[in-house]
Amino acid sequence: MSDAHGLDARLAQWRARCERMLERCLASDDEPTRRLSEAMRYSTLGGGKRLRPILVYCAGEACGAAPEVLDDAAAAVELIHVYSLVHDDLPAMDNDDLRRGRPTCHRAYDEGTAVLVGDALQALAFEVLAGPGRDPGPGDLGAAQRLQQLRVLACSIGTLGMAGGQAIDLAAAGGQIGAAGLEIMHRRKTGALIQASVLLGAIGAGVDSGAQYTALERYGTELGLAFQIHDDVLDVAGDTTLLGKQTGADAARGKPTYPSLHGLAEASRLAIAHRDAAIAALAPLGDRAQLLTQLAHYVVNRSH
Ligand code: IPE
Ligand code: IPE
Ligand code: MG
Ligand code: MG
Ligand code: MG
Repeated sequence: MSDAHGLDARLAQWRARCERMLERCLASDDEPTRRLSEAMRYSTLGGGKRLRPILVYCAGEACGAAPEVLDDAAAAVELIHVYSLVHDDLPAMDNDDLRRGRPTCHRAYDEGTAVLVGDALQALAFEVLAGPGRDPGPGDLGAAQRLQQLRVLACSIGTLGMAGGQAIDLAAAGGQIGAAGLEIMHRRKTGALIQASVLLGAIGAGVDSGAQYTALERYGTELGLAFQIHDDVLDVAGDTTLLGKQTGADAARGKPTYPSLHGLAEASRLAIAHRDAAIAALAPLGDRAQLLTQLAHYVVNRSH
């Protein structure tokens, strides 16, 4: 049975693997776009928990995949995530100055560049996930699997996923959306990409339907909600230096959050309830779900 130390070691391995992938994806010697490439690297490299790529590796491994066939999906979900952060921080959205312990992209560069960093990271994510554009060799991911992954990722960040959730978030600032509306907003703006990360791992392992896939779908949706509730809790109860982003930002902008609607104690209880629902969903995977279970605990215990 893996202990918490075992998880830490695996997290470090997967993070290092992800860093190498991202470094490779973001290498560029195109002189006319040097500033854009620099800003993409600034926003992407050397920071962040890399939770979404870790979920790709962890879910893929639980379904029997080797890390090599998961690398492209792992990089793609992080590139999408960073794009969402860069746009989320813009003055037109959350207007934040601090991200991952450093000035946000539009502060370090400028707003126009930050818009384009998001655009280009999103395009790069799909380019990487689509693969090298040659016939797959032995041990490579097949074209049908890649197409499925592309579809799952695209659906998770469109109107029914991240972008839609962010639209609900913008419209809700300064108002009330009620408990059901808040849950939908969180499931879309954050939960959908987290769920997609889990599913991309499963698809990479050749699991795209059946009891295991359904179990991971449920795990991903519950984990994603637990993650965003805990993010809301950290905005109230966390520490700016540890978090690497300004606390109190949600209240300052009148954002409806789990603590603002339910109170801090109930918000924490709900995060734990969704964590437990995520863990319960893993039953069909048996022993192979140990690390995914530990990750669920990590998601609501983390201080950043
Ligand atoms: C922050 O995500 C944005 C949300 C979706 C809540 P993370 O907490 O995963 O941020 P990084 O990647 O570790 O910086
Ligand atoms: C962001 O939610 C969700 C995204 C799609 C990026 P938040 O606005 O709460 O994320 P933070 O707190 O700025 O990281
Ligand atoms: Mg936001
Ligand atoms: Mg924000
Ligand atoms: Mg937040």
